[in-house]
Formats: sequence, C-alpha cells, structure tokens
Amino acid sequence: MKLTEEIAKRRTFGIISHPDAGKTTLTEKLLLFGGAIQKAGAVKSSKITDHARSDFMEIEKQRGISVATSVMGFTYRDRKINLLDTPGHQDFAEDTYRTLTAVDSVVMVIDCVKGVEIQTEKLMAVCRRRSTPVIAFINKLDREGKDPFDLLDEIEAKLDIKVQPLSWPIGMGKRFKGVYSLYEQALHLFTPGQRTLNEGITITDLHDPQLDKLIGTSDAAQLREDLELLQGVYPEFDRQAYLQGEVAPVFFGSAVNNFGVRELLDCFVDIAPPPLPRATEKQVIAPEEEAFSGFIFKIHANMDPRHRNRIAFLRVCSGQFERKKPYRHLRLQKELKFSNATAFMAQDKEIIDLAYPGDIVGLYDTGNLKIGDTLATTDVGMYKGIPSFSPEIFKEVINRDAMKGKQLDKGLRQLMDEGVAQLFTYEMGSRRVVGTVGALQFEVIKYRLEHEYGARCDFQPQQIYKACWIDSDNPRALKEFVESKYRHIARDKDGKLVFMAESATWLNMVQDNFPDIRFHFISEF
Ligand code: G4P
Repeated sequence: MKLTEEIAKRRTFGIISHPDAGKTTLTEKLLLFGGAIQKAGAVKSSKITDHARSDFMEIEKQRGISVATSVMGFTYRDRKINLLDTPGHQDFAEDTYRTLTAVDSVVMVIDCVKGVEIQTEKLMAVCRRRSTPVIAFINKLDREGKDPFDLLDEIEAKLDIKVQPLSWPIGMGKRFKGVYSLYEQALHLFTPGQRTLNEGITITDLHDPQLDKLIGTSDAAQLREDLELLQGVYPEFDRQAYLQGEVAPVFFGSAVNNFGVRELLDCFVDIAPPPLPRATEKQVIAPEEEAFSGFIFKIHANMDPRHRNRIAFLRVCSGQFERKKPYRHLRLQKELKFSNATAFMAQDKEIIDLAYPGDIVGLYDTGNLKIGDTLATTDVGMYKGIPSFSPEIFKEVINRDAMKGKQLDKGLRQLMDEGVAQLFTYEMGSRRVVGTVGALQFEVIKYRLEHEYGARCDFQPQQIYKACWIDSDNPRALKEFVESKYRHIARDKDGKLVFMAESATWLNMVQDNFPDIRFHFISEF
C-alpha cells in the first residue's frame, strides 16, 4: 500500500477526562467495537485504583502494567486507530500533557452529574494551545444529571470552546429513553445493560408520528421542542471549524451501558483528522515526505531493577519507520539502530518491521533518549511542542551520602529525562530544586534513586509559588533583572533562565517593576 493511503487510514487520538468520568470504561467499549479485546474488564488494569491513590509503589506497579495499554491499536471501518492512554491520576498530569502532543485529536469525557471538572479544564487548556480538535462525550446519562442545555453552556464557559451537539438525549436518569442522533438523523433507544447496540431507527422527519409511538407523546414533544431550540442556537456542523479546534461536536451516552459509543466512534472515524504536517524548529514536515522523522514523547522505566532498560515512545511524523535501519539522533548527532522496535496492538506488544505516520513505536533504550528527542533520516530540525509547565511543589535535593554524589547526579538526570519531575539549578550556589505537579513524585524519586542508582537524598520543602521562564526583547533589561534577582534565578534542564517566584503577590510586584521582562508559566513561548 502506498504511503499516502497508509496515512489517510490512520487516526491517532487520546481520551481525556477528570478521574471517574468514564475514560477507562469508554476506552474499553471502543476496543470491544474494534475487536481488539473480547470481553469487558480487560482494560481496567491500566487504571490506578482507589486504594492505590496514595500508595506510590502500588501506583508504579500499575503504571508498569499500563505500559501495555499505553497505546491501543485497533481497526474499525478500515481505519487504523491508535488510542493513546493518558494517566488519570492528577499527580501524573505532565505525562498526560506530553501524550497530548503526540495525538492528532482528542475525545473528552464529561460526567453529566458533575459537569466540567478541574482536571478537564487543565487538559483542555493544553488542547487549546495546540488547536487540537476535540469531540465531547457526555457520559452517565443513566444517572440524574445536569440539564443538557446547561451542560453545553458550562462547556462553552469553562472550556472556552464553542459546542455543536450532534446527538441529543431523551430524558435522563430513570427516565432516560435514548438519544436522537443529529449526525445520522436516527433515533437510538436505550435498554440498560445491553452490550451490543441495535441499528438506529432512521427518522428524518421529526413530525413522523412513529416518534410518538416509540418514545411517548410527551417525550416526543419535548424532543421536538429541544431540537428546534438547538437549531436556533447552534449553527450547522462545520467540520473545518472542528478541525481547527474551534468547535467541539458533542455526543451524549452511557459508556458502561455501551450506549452512544458506536455513534461516537462512527462519527469520529468520519470527521477526525489523519496525521497532519508538524513543525520542527527548521521547517514544517508533511507526513507524506519520504524521509522518516519522529519524536519521543514518553519514556517508561522498567520496574524490574535487573533490567535497567526503558521504553521510549516514538510518534512517527513522516515517511516510514523501518526496524534495524539507522536513524539520526539529532540532539546527540549520532546514528542509532533499533532492532527490537515494538508496536502496540491492544494488550499485546509485537515486534514490528514498519510503522507509518500516526503510529507509535516502542523503542528499548539504555539511556540515549529523552523526552522531546527527534529521530530522523536527515537533520530536519528538532520537533517543537513538548513544553514543560510550571510545577506546583518545589523541594531542594540534599545529598545524604557524600560518597555517592555521582550516582545521585546520574540518577537525577535520568529520572528528569524520563519526565518524572523537573530540575532547576540555581545560578547561585548550584542548589538543585526538584519541581513536581504532585507530592507522590518525591516518594517515587527517592525510592528509585535508592533502588536503581544506590543514591540517597532528602527533600527540603521550598517556599516557591511558581517557576517562570523569562525572556525579553531588551537584552540589557534581562541582564539587569537577572543581576538584581540573582538569588531567585535558576536554569531548567535545557539551560533556559527561570525566575523562581516565592508568592503570587511578589510575582505581581516584580512584574510591575520590570515591565520589559516577560514571565511565562510554560517553557515554550
Ligand atoms: P475513569 O477512567 O475516567 O477514571 O473512569 P472509569 O471508566 O473507571 O469510571 C468510573 C466509574 O464510573 C466506574 O464505576 C464506572 O463503572 C462508572 N461509569 C462509567 N460509565 C458510566 C455510565 O455511563 N453510567 C454510570 N452510571 N456509571 C458509569 P466504579 O464503581 O468506580 O467502578 P466499577 O466497579 O463499576 O468498575
């Protein structure tokens, strides 16, 4: 098959949600439709269970298991679909942000009872930065939830994106009767607990008396009224606006009851984008380019200390990836060959010989690769777009064993390459401060430094509110700022200047006093 045909077949996406909205359940139902798994319950292992939420060893173990479900490939209606898993635990939010750089679109799950929750807001902000196309799935319609019109308003207000309902619920909770698909102009009736779905009943004319027979006169009247209102408020579906990340089509359903999932999938394969051109620091590269290129967006360490290798996840961006062929590692400027590249098909990993744009390849690595690295046939420039976000918790690293300084340095460097946390080194005194999104990472780092590198350290809490990457159009002003605030200036892993602000009020004051300096909460600006 030609490269262009392979590209046109691919849909690479991620599902995002606040924990418990139904991401795992929806993933599982999608895999059932794709024939990638045979029975429900198979994906549960990737989820961090309630009892493990504060137990980091248990979480690491489960994250180990979840390597297998990090990328789930399946085929549906002649499309090759790559579904990238995103960790639900908010302490691992950075992992999720990075995974979102490797997808071409996103499905967002919202619990109709709880509405838009905080984690969804944060993840959506990442999608908006990249103009990633988003489809929303409002879940748990079998429960008494918020009014659907209010939910749409809430999405628009909190997530700052226009919505376009493509299906509409008939009742909710105990009175939930089904959905009317505006996309297919068909009625889908709900039977709780039903595993497979009947074909929808096509109803193009809403005044068809059959509608009254099927759902009762009062629900039929309500549906007609709702849809009339919808037509007045929301314009026709505009695929271009969706592809530009301006409008999110919305579906309603109940993942656990397998209801509304197939309509979502059918529409997804119709409208979601195939792999698109991506920018490196030098040029924009189309997926159809003959020469291979791709980037590393995730690294997972092997939990077994006897096998120190790691799996690096590579997103293929152009050309075709061939096993055993040497590729250029642009940061290190050297050639690397991967003889045991792995593809992911549901829960099985298999050695692959060829991969195409949109595919994710697992590469076994012994320390050459780090997040953000580009591999390519020629020097096309490093792929852009894997930013770091300001961490929330900061602690200074204190070496507890003077004889093991080198091991500590190495361990810290490798853990940072994996993206476990961020390291900031102060200009003054070379103090090292680790920043994370969640408290759990400190335990993970301490444990892994000791068990994998034989180094011991303590963490001392720091009074830091945010790490702000700084720049200015005025080099003199920047120099003056760095000199006047030298106690609070650090460098990130790439040597970029960072101002470590102690509090929000202080940051505001500093911003007022130094109008020529720009302060960013994200490393890419
Ligand atoms: P997550 O990955 O987003 O964290 O959520 P997950 O799919 O694990 O779903 C969270 C809970 O919500 C699960 O219940 C799941 O069964 C339930 N759920 C998912 N979809 C629906 C739905 O359409 N309707 C209703 N009523 N519930 C739904 P749990 O009790 O935490 O787990 P389990 O014992 O059911 O596995």
